[in-house]
Amino acid sequence: MLEQRDRWFSRASFVTAAIGSAVGLGNVWRFPFVAYKYGGGAFLIPYFVALITAGIPLMILEYGLGQMMQCGAPEALRKVKKRWEWVGWWALGVGSVISFYYAVVMAWCWNYLYYSFTVAWKDDAGGFFNEQVLQKSAGPGELGGLVWPVVFALALTWLIIYFCIFKGVRIVGKVVMVTVPLPVILLGVLLVRGVTLPGAFEGLGFYLTPDFSALMDHEVWLAAYGQIFFSLSLGFGIMIAYASYEAQTADVTNNAFITSLANCGTSYFAGFAVFSTLGYLAYMLNQPVSEVIEKGPTLAFVTYPLAISLLPKAVQIFGVIFFITLLTLGIDSAFSIVEAVVTGIRDKWEVPRKKIVFGFCVVAFLAGLLFCTRAGLYWLDIMDEWMTRFGLACVGLLECVIIGWFFKTRRLKDYINSVSEIRIGLWWDIFIKVLTPAILGTSIVLSVIERIQKPYMMTKEIPYPPWSLWVGGWLVAGAVVAVGIILMRIKGKEIE
Ligand code: PFF
Repeated sequence: MLEQRDRWFSRASFVTAAIGSAVGLGNVWRFPFVAYKYGGGAFLIPYFVALITAGIPLMILEYGLGQMMQCGAPEALRKVKKRWEWVGWWALGVGSVISFYYAVVMAWCWNYLYYSFTVAWKDDAGGFFNEQVLQKSAGPGELGGLVWPVVFALALTWLIIYFCIFKGVRIVGKVVMVTVPLPVILLGVLLVRGVTLPGAFEGLGFYLTPDFSALMDHEVWLAAYGQIFFSLSLGFGIMIAYASYEAQTADVTNNAFITSLANCGTSYFAGFAVFSTLGYLAYMLNQPVSEVIEKGPTLAFVTYPLAISLLPKAVQIFGVIFFITLLTLGIDSAFSIVEAVVTGIRDKWEVPRKKIVFGFCVVAFLAGLLFCTRAGLYWLDIMDEWMTRFGLACVGLLECVIIGWFFKTRRLKDYINSVSEIRIGLWWDIFIKVLTPAILGTSIVLSVIERIQKPYMMTKEIPYPPWSLWVGGWLVAGAVVAVGIILMRIKGKEIE
């Protein structure tokens, strides 16, 4: 490459940025409701198995590949074999779609941060979220115009992302020194507040008591794998891009373990903060915990705020702390996908970085407008289901197959072992070549069959019209693959 590749300041800034990407809304907003929906405490078992069998091996793979090839996902896979470049673009496409709605969830957080000063939701948290914040329509077919406060907040989110990322990983390295520790400290504050409330232990009991019958359901397993991919930012091309800014001699395995364990530890920890507070809510409402917990993406915006509004003291402060926690958690995840896309494009074409960042932010804002309509929550829920469940899992599966069977895990393993303190053994080959693809492949096939037979729904009461699942699910998923193939076919600058 002609110009010198951008570099992280230090190993600490790389690891912090990677943790920043991994630890996000997914840990506090997504993990608790997914865990609850799929067996409560029992979900921790498939989640942990998914971490060991897919999370850590793939983190090592993505770091190793990015660092060895010194380029983002599409170019790195092209170097493995020319015809696999599209998989890298596919990863970036899936990540981009996720970032379109992820930024909208952040926009809700901005709205709630503002409402925290007056605890505006205190009389009816559910009604407030659905009628005032989302102005939710009756179904995905009824878009009903834009909800302006969410649109403004979305614009603000993309503006901030632009300024965090437009100069490259050196600025990122500095931003994450604040956006990574701050939410962890704030979560600690929420945790202490949570566990000292009456009813907290019933909430925690609920979080930690396993429903083992859930383990027989393959849906639970796929949900656990989906959550691991989402949470560790795997299958987005992000970790490959971030690692490509590390020196080729940097340690791989250690960094991969640190990132994966820090991320899953944070999810587990956040579960304590959330469920103890929900236990308090149940206590105050005099209902069983199972009655008060939402099973959908509204947990952080209805149930948790409701619990905050019932606190004996300093209600506003805890509201502000909670939403600042979510915003600082989300921002470094959101800009990491922009960095991955910028890296992918700049590896292939000569385009100034600022132009790509600006273009991406504008496109993402415009695409996000769909989720700012009155039907936004429905589309968000549908796309989240397809992108995380099928999109990330398929990319993960293909990464394993490509590296395991077309590149020979040995070559990558030898490289990783030559630079790392912890040496990886045969177990890693077995996971990447056989076990992980077998588990992912089986669950994807079973889930596709299931999705076709039994349409997806957010809650049992509101079934989606089938056309909306075809459009928001299968069509978008197919379009992302098609874009990947088209981008592969466009000629780039010649490298090497
Ligand atoms: N790892 C992030 C989380 O758990 O919140 C997920 C994520 C979302 C990463 C969107 C990147 C992204 F663009």
